[in-house]
Amino acid sequence: MHMAPVRNARSVFNEVPIGLPDPGRTVKYDDSQTIDLDDVDLGGGFLVKVLYVSMDPYLRNRMREPSPKNLRPPFIIGDPLVNFGIGVVLRSENPEMKVDDHIYGFLPFQEYAILKETKAFRVISNEANIPWSAYVGVCSMPGQTAYYGWRALAEAKKGETLFVSAGPVGSFVIQLAKHEGLKVIASAGSDEKVQFIKSIGADVAFNYKKELTTEILDKEGPINIYWDHVGGETLDAALDAAAHFARFVECGMMSQNNATPENPPYIPKNLQLVIGKTLTIRGFVVTVFEDQYKEDFYAEIPSRVAKGELKYVEDVTVGLEGVGQALLNVQTGANRGKSVIRVSQSQ
Ligand SMILES: NC(=O)c1ccc[n+]([C@@H]2O[C@H](COP(=O)([O-])OP(=O)(O)OC[C@H]3O[C@@H](n4cnc5c(N)ncnc54)[C@H](OP(=O)(O)O)[C@@H]3O)[C@@H](O)[C@H]2O)c1
Repeated sequence: MHMAPVRNARSVFNEVPIGLPDPGRTVKYDDSQTIDLDDVDLGGGFLVKVLYVSMDPYLRNRMREPSPKNLRPPFIIGDPLVNFGIGVVLRSENPEMKVDDHIYGFLPFQEYAILKETKAFRVISNEANIPWSAYVGVCSMPGQTAYYGWRALAEAKKGETLFVSAGPVGSFVIQLAKHEGLKVIASAGSDEKVQFIKSIGADVAFNYKKELTTEILDKEGPINIYWDHVGGETLDAALDAAAHFARFVECGMMSQNNATPENPPYIPKNLQLVIGKTLTIRGFVVTVFEDQYKEDFYAEIPSRVAKGELKYVEDVTVGLEGVGQALLNVQTGANRGKSVIRVSQSQ
């Protein structure tokens, strides 16, 4: 039986924000389009029903005017947002993609999409039998960031001390560090999040909104590894608390994401300590280590998640209508775990 065209709702980039994203303005929910799932021309490609897309802090960095200094191009006003997601193939004219394959890769924030480039996607077999949403969180880019960066840059030794601010990436880092016998100092922005990071093994867990990072590090440091997600004053505190030969893994600088001319970026004051303490500071982007560690990651991590050896918390937004709020929440910390958007039910 031929089905009538169905809604193909999207979450469209509407306006470059100044400072924090504005849920009602930065993106718009648009349900004006429809799609004929049976008859739409695939042009040799494949039709995908989008199940989950990931909401990550870095999307804010793509909401800007074009600039050659940035690696990733900005989002285009009027187009749907795009990020890592999981979808299921409904129809295919490409022999490499089969109906019911679950694919992971860059997907639009849209209910259905016609895709062409098979190389850009990985078919996820999910032998571990974990929820599909895990494949946009702990078993995808945020988990990979922790896993790759840890293996490539941390040079961790048993008995050393790590400091990390722990959201989805940091929670994964904590668990890797505890597995290797380090002492972990970790912070988060709510008591509920602090409880979680304690439960996954952080030796010292504190709410950075209630306690001074400098005081905690003075007492519990010095630190041998600083895994940075925050930049600004937290980076300064870590420089001050660093041991000689400490490694600084520069993963993110959340505190600087939403700077404006009135609220300019914080300039670190302690950089000179890099010399006297013989520090190593290395930034990285997850994709640069993909070829080296991706297959190890997929061989190891989903099964460890299934066994309960790696813990994670999710904050699920149901439906594309909630994207604007989710976008703001990951900037302010109002999300209660890894933020994922459930675009459609599995089947
Ligand atoms: N380099 C890469 O390839 C790569 C890949 C993925 C992610 N990242 C970056 O890695 C970072 C972590 O990602 P995520 O998804 O885990 O995000 P997240 O949940 O926002 O984690 C950031 C952590 O920093 C804390 N934080 C934010 N602002 C702070 C401030 N002003 N002072 C002290 N702590 C603050 C957060 O606390 P609360 O939210 O609890 O308040 C949270 O614990 C982000 O900066 C992201 O852009 C980089």
